[in-house]
Formats: sequence, C-alpha cells, structure tokens
Amino acid sequence: MSNDLESLKSEMLAAVAAAGSTQALEAVRVGELGKKGRITGLMKELGGLDPQERKARGQALNALKDEVARALEARKADLAQDDLDARLAGEGVDITLPVRPEQTGCIHPISQTIDEAIAIFGEMGFTVAEGPDIEEDWYNFTALNIPPDHPARQEHDTFYLPDTGDGQRKVLRTHTSPVQIRTMQQTKPPIRIIVPGRTYRCDYDATHSPMFHQVEGLLVDQTTHMGHLKGCLIDFCRAFFDVDDLPVRFRPSYFPFTEPSAEVDIGCTREGGQFRIGHGDDWMEILGCGMVNPKVLENCGIDSSVYQGFAFGVGIERLAMLKFGIPDLRTFFESDLRWLRHYGFSPLQAPSMVGGLDR
Ligand code: DAH
Repeated sequence: MSNDLESLKSEMLAAVAAAGSTQALEAVRVGELGKKGRITGLMKELGGLDPQERKARGQALNALKDEVARALEARKADLAQDDLDARLAGEGVDITLPVRPEQTGCIHPISQTIDEAIAIFGEMGFTVAEGPDIEEDWYNFTALNIPPDHPARQEHDTFYLPDTGDGQRKVLRTHTSPVQIRTMQQTKPPIRIIVPGRTYRCDYDATHSPMFHQVEGLLVDQTTHMGHLKGCLIDFCRAFFDVDDLPVRFRPSYFPFTEPSAEVDIGCTREGGQFRIGHGDDWMEILGCGMVNPKVLENCGIDSSVYQGFAFGVGIERLAMLKFGIPDLRTFFESDLRWLRHYGFSPLQAPSMVGGLDR
C-alpha cells in the first residue's frame, strides 16, 4: 500500500476507534465508505490512471476498504454491547426494598406441599428429576408393564392427543411414573430420585381434578429391599404430618410396575365428624408403592439379576387436603385470592428440615 493510503488507513481506523456512539460511528462510515465518502472518491479516480497503475492502486484501495469495513463492524458490535450493559445497569431492581406487608404474595398449598416433600426426601438423599407433561404411550404405559390390552389403561381416564401420523397418539401423562423410565434410561444405578409434577386424567368432582399433582419416588441399587421402602415411607409420613408416632400401615395391593405392591394408610380418627390424623381407630389411604418390577428394569436396559429398587407415588392434592384441612379439591385451581390468603404460606420461609416445614 502506498504511503498516502497507509496514513489514510491509520487516520480512518483512529476515527472508527474514537467513535463513542452508534451515531458517531455511522457518521464515520458515511464519511469514508458512503456515496460521497473518501474511499469512494478515491475509487472514482482510478479511471484516470494507466492500466498498470490502476490495477495496483485498485487492489490497495479494496484492501483499505475491507479493513475499514471490518473495523466499523467490530466497533459497532462493541458499542451495541456497551449500550446493552448501560441499559441493564440502569434497569437494576433494588431488592433491598423492604416488603410491604399488605402486598406480600402467598405460596400456594400445592407448591408448599411439593417443597415440603422435597425437603424431607432431599434430607434422605433423593434429588429432583423431571419429565414432559406430554408423554409417549410407551413411557406412560408400555414400559411400565402396562401393555395396550391391560385393564389398568382403562382406569387411567387418559387424555389422548391427536394421532401424529405414524399411528402413535401421545398422551397427557396420567401419572409421574414415566419419569422413572426416562431416568433409568439416562442414568446408571444407583438412582435415588423424586419427581414432583403435573398429571392429567379425565375426571372432575370434589376429589378429582383433570389436572393434579403427584410426587413419584424411585430408588435403584443392588441391596435395597422392602424394609428400606417401609422405613423410607414411614419416615416421610411422620415428618410430613409432623406426628412422631403416626401409625403407618402397608396393605398388599397391585400395580403393574411394582412386584410386590402395597398401599400405605396412615392412622386417623373421625370422631364426632372431626377428622384428625394420628392415633385412632381408622385408616386413611395416602400412597401406592412397591418393589420395582424386574420387567420394568429390563425395559430400561437395567440388569434385574444385579439391580433392584423400590418406587412410590403419592397425590399432592390429597396430602395437602389432609394436612391443611382443605375440604374441596376444586378450590386449589379456582385462583381465589381470599382462599389463597387463608390457606397460603409465607414466601419468606422456605420449608426445611432444619427450619421447620410449614410455618
Ligand atoms: N402411578 C400410580 C398411580 O398414579 C402411583 C404409584 C403406585 C406409583 C405405586 C408408584 C408405585 O411408583 O410404585 O396411581
């Protein structure tokens, strides 16, 4: 590049670097590369040169043009970032503002119950896993040992989505159990998860809602037996209902994905029409559980001659209704603020096994 172009280049790059705003930068661009810009002007003069000279000068001018254009682009990106940083800094929220008591929101009893379950099972070493609400038939049923002609399918009142064209219909998951399958496919044992989440069944009355919540539990390793399952769930029930000697009973039951299976009841009384959890002559069913069916392990590629585990599933609404004395399930989803203020919880006190569950 000839001397005049070299010094022009330094001058132009300095101008680009000195542009302190997008507008200033645009002015530099127009001044150098615009229709009447300096580089454009020099390009126009090429016509008057002899061919040899024109070629060399043309190449040098093109190189100069490219370099200035690149510098302009780079500076533009820098300035945009500076603009964004400045805007974000200006938009900062002052989180030190004191809470105005009349404006505090409430934690919904469903969220509270889920947080309490996470606190209790978290203490036992379970971590939280998730899966999709819109689920494939295979995960929701088949892999859980509920083949297409199985009677349990009818009991689930499933919401089916339209056929995707390949003869497959997705479902709104009818339980959180499909996340067992997803987890076992993705992680090697030992596995210790709980799965709080939404579930769906076509049913609606004082104790059923088409959308409701469950917490699933799954533990897989090489040594676990039914005694561990019992201990784990007894501890959970006693911690959750905050009754140290709460009677907990395991009744034989049937689920396709566990073998053996059980349902769990907790002790209660219904004296004088008053329902109370704790010692009494009555029982209340609260969850289903069992040892993971070896077929389910095999469906996930886990060797059932080496591994075993237990699983459980519990309805969140039911737990919340029992613990907080909420009589009608439909009220959970009516978004009535008066109801929420009555049954809700302080957002400033997250449940923990150290700090206490619901305060
Ligand atoms: N998925 C069952 C239901 O929705 C609940 C359940 C029962 C889950 C036993 C489990 C289990 O993991 O072992 O009715």
